[in-house]
Amino acid sequence: MDRKHHWAYPALTRPGLSRSQLLVHFRHEYLVYVRDFPVLLARALGLTPPLYDVRRALAENLYEEQTGGLSNTAGHPLLFLRMMAGLGFAEAAFQEDAGALHPNATRYREFLRSLSASEPWVAAVALLTIFVEGSVNERAELEGTYARAAGRDAVASHPLVKHYGCPPEAMQLTRAHASVEGGHRRDAWATVLAHAAEGASEADAVAAVCEEALVLWHAYRDGVAAEMGLARPAAGGSL
Ligand SMILES: [Fe+2]
Repeated sequence: MDRKHHWAYPALTRPGLSRSQLLVHFRHEYLVYVRDFPVLLARALGLTPPLYDVRRALAENLYEEQTGGLSNTAGHPLLFLRMMAGLGFAEAAFQEDAGALHPNATRYREFLRSLSASEPWVAAVALLTIFVEGSVNERAELEGTYARAAGRDAVASHPLVKHYGCPPEAMQLTRAHASVEGGHRRDAWATVLAHAAEGASEADAVAAVCEEALVLWHAYRDGVAAEMGLARPAAGGSL
C-alpha cells in the first residue's frame, strides 16, 4: 500500500485541469471499480467460509456501498454520479457505451472481476477491502499518525469543491466515506491479519494478488494519465 501512489495524482488535487481531462479521469474511475464495487464485494462474500465476524463485516460494507444505509445517504455509485452532476457532467457520460476505456483500464477491471471470485477467499477480500478501498495513507492511518478529514472540513477542503466549483451539497460521497470508512478500514485489516498469518500460504496468496493488482493499477493510472494528456515529470521534478 505504501506504493499505491501515482505520479499524476498531484494534478488531481490542484487547479488547472480542463473539464474534458476531469471527465476522462472520473469516467474511468466510475466504470473500472466505482459502479460495480458492491457487486465485487458480494462476489468475495460468496466465497467466504462460515466465519460470522468476517461475513458480518463484509455484509455491512456491501450494504453501505450499495444503499448508503449506514451513513444515511445513498448507494456510493449513485453518490458518485451526484458528485459528477455537481461538476456539470450528465449521467449519460458515464454509461458503458459513452466512450472507450483505455485498454489498461479494461485489464485492471477484468482482474478485479476475476480475482474477487477466486480462492483463496482471504485474497479476494484483501484485494477489495485493502487494496481497492485503501490508500497510500494506510500505514499512517493504522498507526494513528494520519487523520482523515471529516464532516464539513472533508467537503470544504476537497479539491473538487476548492478548485473545480463542485457545490458542497453534491459531495455526499465524501461525507459518507468520512463517516463509515474508518470502521471499514479496521475491519478489513482485522480480517486479513487474522486469516492470513505471516508464513501461511494464505499470506503469500494475499501478497501475490495485491502485488499483481498494484502493477495493473499503475498501468491503468498511466493509461488514464496518457488519455488526459498529462506528461510524467522528469525524475526529481514535480508535476
Ligand atoms: Fe464507498
